[in-house]
Amino acid sequence: MQALLLAGGLGTRLRPLTEDWPKPMALLGNRPWLEHLIVMLKRQGVDDIVLAVKHCPEKIQQHFGYGDRWGVTIRYVVERTLLGTAGAIKNAESLLRDRFLVFNADIIQTFHLRPFIEGHVRRGGGVSICLTEVEDPSHYGVVEQDADGRILRFVEKPRPEEAPSRKINAGIYMLDKAVLADIPAGKEVSIEREMFPGWIRKGVPVYGHDTEGYWMDMGTTKRYRQVHRDLLDRKLDLPVSGTEVERGVWIGENSEVHPGALIVPPVLIGNRVTIGEKAVIGPYTVIGDDCRIKSGARLMESILWNRCTVETNAVLNNCIFGHGLTIGTRHVMHEAVMSRIGVSYA
Ligand code: GDD
Ligand code: MG
Repeated sequence: MQALLLAGGLGTRLRPLTEDWPKPMALLGNRPWLEHLIVMLKRQGVDDIVLAVKHCPEKIQQHFGYGDRWGVTIRYVVERTLLGTAGAIKNAESLLRDRFLVFNADIIQTFHLRPFIEGHVRRGGGVSICLTEVEDPSHYGVVEQDADGRILRFVEKPRPEEAPSRKINAGIYMLDKAVLADIPAGKEVSIEREMFPGWIRKGVPVYGHDTEGYWMDMGTTKRYRQVHRDLLDRKLDLPVSGTEVERGVWIGENSEVHPGALIVPPVLIGNRVTIGEKAVIGPYTVIGDDCRIKSGARLMESILWNRCTVETNAVLNNCIFGHGLTIGTRHVMHEAVMSRIGVSYA
């Protein structure tokens, strides 16, 4: 089975983390989300992967190469200009098989794909869309269906009072290559705003498939934090690296926690991390590989990517820090989102 992963967006709602880092490569439990996704796809029989990339493609290519380490074949289609969600699919047409899956690469989910794929095949193809239900559908693509699940209307990001239901596009599709003939080539086209409504109008069978289980779009800082809380609470069943040394405390290899430090679960600590005396870590804190947390530093509900240093007595509350940052002695930061490019407070 083949999957095309849409991973080219700018990730504006996760800036500055995504200024120089592709959103799907944001760490989740100390591993890029895209890696979790590829591992899950492989396990479910998807071994032919096409990545549609644009923003910082080299970060993705350097990490995955041809995909051998994961037992999959990865090919990249790099857009010169952003082509939108349908334009990116059209752009990859020559690499696509007759029937293939498409994933928004920023969706955190643990779905079983088999029933979705079987449903698509049983109906004889066309367009199938995974659906999930949310409280406030206005940030998503919202559908109206008939009793058979056929989608009668697709509205992208409607005003709350105009949403036809609470069932939304979960960002996973199965398409027959034949439908790509309708997508104009070489220009920006949105699958949500142009193609889904267009296919429905034209009579192409567009069906919704209800899914169960964890689902979250991690594309805003608020949701990115929530995904981490859910991971540490084990509501999101993804592998957590490291050994669970006590309930809710995971520590990676070659890390040293000073006996005089206080760890308040849940906490995930990566590989080769050092934590100094009287440091207080947690709850809901994730520390990436090769970080140094000096004595007396306090980290609550914060996420640090790799190679960060938190100097003596610094305090981080509800912060997210990208790779390779240093937080100075006695600095106190609340709700900061920071990368080497800059900082925002959200
Ligand atoms: N290659 C490429 N080129 N990828 C793109 C482009 C592009 O021009 N634009 C967006 N993407 C990728 C993003 O990187 C992301 O993985 C995915 O397509 C979806 O884009 P978002 O920008 O995250 O869209 P959204 O979250 O506002 O809305 C989409 O996802 C919702 C589910 O979370 C829509 O598909 C909604 O209908 C849907 O409900
Ligand atoms: Mg998104």
